[in-house]
Amino acid sequence: MVINRPPMGWNSWNTFGEDINEKVVMETADFIVENGFKEAGYEYVIIDDCWSLRERNEKGELVPDPVKFPHGMKYVSDYVHSKGLKFGMYSCAGTMTCAGYPSSYDHEFVDAKCFAEWGVDYLKYDFCFRPTTTYGHILYKRMALALANCGRDIVFAACSWGAENTKKWIKETGAHTWRSTGDINDSWQSVKMLAQDQLKVMEYNGQGCFNDMDMLIVGMNGKGNVALTGCTVEEYKTHFAFWAMMGSPLIIGCDLRSADEDSLKILKNKALIDIDQDEAYRQPFVLNAFRDFKNENDPLYEDEQLEIPVLARFLSNGDIAIGLFNFSDSDRNISATMDSLGIGECTGKTIEMTDAWTGETVRPVNATIRKNVAAHSCVVYRAKVVDL
Ligand code: GLA
Repeated sequence: MVINRPPMGWNSWNTFGEDINEKVVMETADFIVENGFKEAGYEYVIIDDCWSLRERNEKGELVPDPVKFPHGMKYVSDYVHSKGLKFGMYSCAGTMTCAGYPSSYDHEFVDAKCFAEWGVDYLKYDFCFRPTTTYGHILYKRMALALANCGRDIVFAACSWGAENTKKWIKETGAHTWRSTGDINDSWQSVKMLAQDQLKVMEYNGQGCFNDMDMLIVGMNGKGNVALTGCTVEEYKTHFAFWAMMGSPLIIGCDLRSADEDSLKILKNKALIDIDQDEAYRQPFVLNAFRDFKNENDPLYEDEQLEIPVLARFLSNGDIAIGLFNFSDSDRNISATMDSLGIGECTGKTIEMTDAWTGETVRPVNATIRKNVAAHSCVVYRAKVVDL
């Protein structure tokens, strides 16, 4: 099985952690359908860690916790499918999940069979408590093979946080996405850190196996399992825009049922979702890059380009996505030359740029894109190449 776009959906972990149950999952599926999220592209409803009993049954199978899921998993899965959505679950490559529940090491084929029977369409596969006697890439190959032979198409979402140089071997396992960052938490610091880390591995993203920057925190507002300080609306916008610019899976992590209007609007921004899901899945490149910020030996590694990255991405219809991001703590004048976009002076061409947040259209002046971008903020354009 292959997938041709970064998955979009919702996952229980960021907000609910251990307090997950069928009511939350089913009501979230309802919300996704009734409030335009399905139409916007959100598709997978995913139950993360803590869904099972602490022991397997006598057949060696994982058992859904009957208090959290009194009707079993097939029931929840059928409900999600009845809404035209897809159903996701979670397990782990080690001997226990990260939260200490039984996990799939040495049970890969039994578990894959169970997931198939329950109608699972997506499996997030974590990396805690892995036996030291074997390598990470073998553990992911085991489950990939079990899933590929379970009789159902199941997206395999690897979650080894980039450990053991995941980027070098993940594609050979058959995983469809790989977590290219550590865990997110609901704070600006976390967004900034994950974004800057991603700049160093973005070239590994692409069709077939997408870099996954972790679930979104938009709308958490300091509440829930991975909550910390929360973010301002502007910071949530920058977070969402950066994930979209990078072509990451967009997996919502807030409680949609009680999220504020600003957050719901951010999560449904069509211009950004279109960039995220652009069918070419090309990677962004850094405009006006003077230094090799991917090279950790470069003495200027922690410099401007990590603080105010200016990114462009060539889209499938010839348009260009351009993102001016300000991760620094002060307002900054950010600029980029047309030349660095590939539009030289003698071409007779320029670009017409439509702001993804406001819908306003502007053209560069003097062959330079220039904008004052507030601290923690961003501007993202979709640019069309036009005659001067
Ligand atoms: C790890 C993962 C998280 C989440 C938790 C669950 O930390 O990276 O995304 O799934 O485990 O315990």
